[in-house]
Amino acid sequence: MRMCKYADVQMKNKLCPINKNNSEIRTMIKKLTLFALLFYCFAVKAQTAYTPTADNLASRENFQDMKFGLFIHWGIYSELGDGEWVMHERKIPYNNYKRLADFFNPQGFNAKEWVQFAKRAGMKYITVTSRHHDGFSMFGTKTSPYNIVDATPYHKDPMMELAQECQKEGIELHFYYSLLDWGRPDYAYGSPIVNGAPVKGDWDSYINFMKTQLTELITNYPGVKGIWFDGHWERPAVNWHYDEIYGLIHKLNPAIIIGNNHHVAVKQGEDFQMFEKDLPGNNNTGFSADSKISSLPLETCETINNSWGFNINDRSYKTVKQIIHYLVNAAGRNANFLLNIGPMPNGKIQPEFADTLAVVGKWMQKNGESIYGTRGNLVAPQQWGVVTYKNNTIYAHVLNTPQQPYIFLPSVKGKITKVTLLSDGSSIKFKQQPEGVFIYADHINADAIDTIIELTTK
Ligand code: GLC
Repeated sequence: MRMCKYADVQMKNKLCPINKNNSEIRTMIKKLTLFALLFYCFAVKAQTAYTPTADNLASRENFQDMKFGLFIHWGIYSELGDGEWVMHERKIPYNNYKRLADFFNPQGFNAKEWVQFAKRAGMKYITVTSRHHDGFSMFGTKTSPYNIVDATPYHKDPMMELAQECQKEGIELHFYYSLLDWGRPDYAYGSPIVNGAPVKGDWDSYINFMKTQLTELITNYPGVKGIWFDGHWERPAVNWHYDEIYGLIHKLNPAIIIGNNHHVAVKQGEDFQMFEKDLPGNNNTGFSADSKISSLPLETCETINNSWGFNINDRSYKTVKQIIHYLVNAAGRNANFLLNIGPMPNGKIQPEFADTLAVVGKWMQKNGESIYGTRGNLVAPQQWGVVTYKNNTIYAHVLNTPQQPYIFLPSVKGKITKVTLLSDGSSIKFKQQPEGVFIYADHINADAIDTIIELTTK
């Protein structure tokens, strides 16, 4: 009998003893191949799955501890006093808009003043626009002459001054970075997207441009701890190459936390989740419908008036109470609050923002222990307010007049040993039952902004 070989056509010959099992062998080989393929895919996925480093996890904890940050929108658009979308809204041709750079000369900019402004308000970090949708870089970059150092009579780099001042003063610095660009030919704004890239333009060139700029921002500027992406929603169908972009950032500095204002569920490689103008779980803006809350640290951003960039006509300033309530409501939902201001084109911050935030800062000095370093979601938001906690202490923030003559905290674990008013330490009567804690605070002097009740647990 001749030898049978797997590839031999003779295999089909009935004389070969294993021929009758041919189809079984083929099925087995197919199965093995499929198994090997699945194993390979799994191994590759496991290799590329993002695992945050210990430094990154520490940054996330620290981020959550900081609770309150200053968002700053500042660019050549500030000159027109009509927000950062002015080029788009007023249909200003890019080449005309670019002239704004010729007379952007913020002689009043002083990094010390900005950092002191944030500190006075009780803020612990600053997120500043390094480049917005108009594509103008507010930092010195080698990638394009369209930047504040090369294209304006100012010729200085405010981002460097800010980074250095933040470091000196112990304020953490995050850079806002726009994915969307209205002017660059390689981005080709308005182009149809086919197969994950704009038909016009040069997508690879644009992705490389961003990677180079991000490298500059992370390696040249001291102490950068976060990157805040925005503009994804303009091109949901494009391949943003996040694996490369996020991978690069984490390779350059694994401790940097990445967030993306894409308005959808968090993606692989992100370290915190943000909500635009909404408390987590709300969708008042229409932006948050698809933003399923993740287990990552959370942040919500909101404007001090109704504008991100300087708007000379916007006088709808939020009150001290509105700002504190937003901050407390965010903390109760386990989120940071990033409050935005748009400085004027001369680099100064308008007094209407400064006076309000100085009062907020005084409040934080007095009540900060119930916000900084706390976590939320211990108890779901109630009609009367929200709850934060830290170690053995629970803080009930009574923001609205309770409907009952008591406030009720459902499902509190751990024995409550005492309940006091944070402002003066006076004792408050309470009753702990298996279903929760009843606090009889009807006789105490309610605070006009937030009556904070401290519960000590064993
Ligand atoms: C939106 C706006 C943008 C702003 C951002 C801040 O994405 O388009 O201008 O910078 O919100 O959250």
